[in-house]
Amino acid sequence: MFEEHGKPREEVLGRLDQLLEADATYSSGHPVASMSTIPHSLGAEVFAKTLEKNAGRLHTFRGSAQVEQEVLEMIGGLLNLDTQPFGTTTSGGTESNILAILAFRELARRKTKKPEIIAPKTAHSSIDKAGWLLGVKVVRTRIDKEYRGVPRGIEKKINENTVGIVLTAGTTYLGQIDPIEKVAEIALDHKIPLHVDAAFGGFVIPFLKDIGRGRHRFAFEVEGVTSVSVDPHKMGLAPIPAGAILFRNHKYVKRITNTVPYLRGASSTQVSILGTRPAASILATWAIMKHLGREGYRDVVRECMDHTDHIMKRIKHNPMLRAAIEPVMNIVGIESREVPLDTVVERMEKRGWRMATSPLPPTMRIVVMPHVTKGSINAFFNDLDDISTTIPA
Ligand SMILES: Cc1ncc(COP(=O)(O)O)c(C=O)c1O
Repeated sequence: MFEEHGKPREEVLGRLDQLLEADATYSSGHPVASMSTIPHSLGAEVFAKTLEKNAGRLHTFRGSAQVEQEVLEMIGGLLNLDTQPFGTTTSGGTESNILAILAFRELARRKTKKPEIIAPKTAHSSIDKAGWLLGVKVVRTRIDKEYRGVPRGIEKKINENTVGIVLTAGTTYLGQIDPIEKVAEIALDHKIPLHVDAAFGGFVIPFLKDIGRGRHRFAFEVEGVTSVSVDPHKMGLAPIPAGAILFRNHKYVKRITNTVPYLRGASSTQVSILGTRPAASILATWAIMKHLGREGYRDVVRECMDHTDHIMKRIKHNPMLRAAIEPVMNIVGIESREVPLDTVVERMEKRGWRMATSPLPPTMRIVVMPHVTKGSINAFFNDLDDISTTIPA
């Protein structure tokens, strides 16, 4: 109820604290399946002191405009873009994917009135949301035994209405990477743009090679990749909302730029879907990236991967459990071999765990974010071991 008279601050804050007791807290090591984490303290500091800044008004906030440009340049460097970055910061992976598909559709306006995009079954649900919003049919294609898109399956679905292909570098369900190089060749052959959704993987994959965990060409180093999205508010440790999408070429950005007639200068055009939007998370992203440098992120990824190894040990130790794939990055999908997955998950929730499940394959998911400690992993598996051995199959 919105009351006539206001209440004292202490009373309001006290009530808010009470309500928020129902939230999970990252500091407790829960939740185990969230893709965001405790923002880096420097980012939190910058965010808190820049709350009023509006990235929808870059003519007014010219310093913020400069910082946004520098963030895009740093992310361009992370994604091996050797030209200036064309793109925008966004509110996250969903907005970035919508923008990519909007650009595909707009570029193909003369080609078709019935636009279609192709994406493997494992692409994030925001691709369906984008298709729904933009009137673009989403053609989902088969995956292989390791839950990666199949190049031949994608090529077979290309027709005169195809306006783009979407692949994922770090799938939501298993952290898997689609065969980007092979599909990029197909995309080039057919002159179709290819978007890589690296919302999660963008701040992980570039560091895996440095720590001896696999080399993957997934971004602009692959000819044929036309756009890549990355979320600083996931493994970039930035406060929510912080996403970004970069395009190889300005022609895509031009097609998704809209005019704001009542604003001037840099504010008079917008690329993002949102109008008014926080500059605070962009400024925080800038500060964290400058402060940590590549070496800082490498250390974060190293620790998350060490914890992922520990999870794999605990899974192997329990004959009732199995990992769906050998993890490529810090996401683990766990199958229940005998007891129905839903039963295990319900019992875990009764013990206070906030669980997440994926449909493909049916698994419970752990996203091994920096707040997921060895202690919380052990507590989780102690409960899981207990539950999976006490429920009759
Ligand atoms: C691969 C991938 N893409 C896009 C998204 C959507 O990101 P957001 O929730 O920030 O919009 C997610 C979220 O989990 C994701 O895993």
